Amino acid sequence: MDTLAIVTALAYLVASVCFILGLKMMSSPRTAVRGNMVGAVGMLIAVLVTLLDRGIIDWWVIIAGLLVGSALGVVLAVRVKMTSMPQMVAALNGLGGGASVCVAAAAHMEELARGESIASSEIVAVAASGLIGAVTFWGSLVAYAKLEEWKSVRDPKALPGQMAINGVLLLACVALGAYLLVHPDAMWAYWALVAISSILGFTLVLPIGGADMPVVVALLNSYSGLAGAATGFILNNTALIISGALVGASGIILCQIMCKAMNRSLTNVLLGTFAGGTGPSADDVYGGKVKGASADEIAMLFDGAQRVLIVPGYGMAVAQAQHAVRDLMKIAAKKGAEVDFAIHPVAGRMPGHMNVLLAEADVPYERLKEPDEINASIDQVDVVVVIGANDVVNPLARTDPSSPIAGMPIIDVDRARNVVVIKRSLSPGFAGIPNPLFAAPNTLMYFGDGQKAVLDLVNAIKNA
Ligand code: TAP
Repeated sequence: MDTLAIVTALAYLVASVCFILGLKMMSSPRTAVRGNMVGAVGMLIAVLVTLLDRGIIDWWVIIAGLLVGSALGVVLAVRVKMTSMPQMVAALNGLGGGASVCVAAAAHMEELARGESIASSEIVAVAASGLIGAVTFWGSLVAYAKLEEWKSVRDPKALPGQMAINGVLLLACVALGAYLLVHPDAMWAYWALVAISSILGFTLVLPIGGADMPVVVALLNSYSGLAGAATGFILNNTALIISGALVGASGIILCQIMCKAMNRSLTNVLLGTFAGGTGPSADDVYGGKVKGASADEIAMLFDGAQRVLIVPGYGMAVAQAQHAVRDLMKIAAKKGAEVDFAIHPVAGRMPGHMNVLLAEADVPYERLKEPDEINASIDQVDVVVVIGANDVVNPLARTDPSSPIAGMPIIDVDRARNVVVIKRSLSPGFAGIPNPLFAAPNTLMYFGDGQKAVLDLVNAIKNA
């Protein structure tokens, strides 16, 4: 081993340690920001060493790529709305997969051009990169469109015999991979494998929808890591193998957490075996039973309230109401109430969405409670304020086995003494179904944009 190879190996080791430490630190809100920095430093080391170590292409091409990529990145980062971050994450996952497809092809073609014999393990890695990378790329684009709520793909769509079709496509990919193993120079087999995997990406994600999207996004995230790790084997790049494996493993762990939050098995989600029905219509659920209230009327509920629970959802993110919600927490605490937040694992549109927003508004982390903990004593809560949450507090999940969210554990706010729901209308949430909570006898609807409504309520409580 020459000196450069030893320095490179050591630098990759340091980078990998940074990734692992960064992930560990990100598991607690107190150390998360530092963890992010540690991970970024690891990435900087890995990129610099790779640029110095490998004379892959001309420096000018690399600089041009950096400029184009950075310009696109800056435009996207400035333009994308906070509420569109999940779509952005899905798209970035997809680009990771697409990059693996291209890098695997380029590396393999370069090896062929050198005319040396290629190890079978490397060809297996090339086929794996093509398969997983293309599934990730196209699957992520479909996930992007679903999260953007494009009408044409929003609802789950499955062809008759969908699972059999997917099985045949997967077998065709495996057969093409085997052909490539025997005939490494048959690049057409690689591209055919990529084309069929692309169709598989579509057909795997199209039938999934509604409340199952969090699981799919986590799974695609894991795939992008696996595709990267496979590409690391082709390039013989330890940092890429380790970082890809870390992304793959953490994506799977996240997937399990999401499945638990939805009370669904992964196979169940992937096979789309729980499409369920559509449940009752909005007219059946709401007809004449919904009670609206003003800020002043709701402020009176806080008089003498001993326990107050705030349940945020996607609407809080849309309204950017987290700072107003913090003020509500403070004023209710000042009035003598014990104030907690109930955070559902799939509230919002990305894992940890509510935690991040509330941390940004300096809500103490100890106030954030999981549904199980809150549900155990929710009947003793005097006032629940639901802000922009819908599916995660929908009692149909418990009561209607034909509902698309049946079986999903929810925050049982309907069992509390008084419930205030802040949202702009009776429109459904992501799962597209009505919510009987809004028509329950102990619920008051407080219609309006989340931020303004909470600020008005805070003022009303102050002046009460
Ligand atoms: P949702 O069920 O999607 O409901 C959000 C509610 O916010 C809507 O009913 C909407 O009603 C209201 N809203 C929107 N803008 C508002 C504003 N400016 N002010 C006040 N309210 C506003 O949200 P949830 O309860 O958080 O549930 C999350 C859903 O998303 C679940 O079905 C979950 O499976 C899915 N999902 C989650 C993820 C992850 S990882 N968290 C990823 C993909 C999908 P109005 O329009 O009437 O105001």
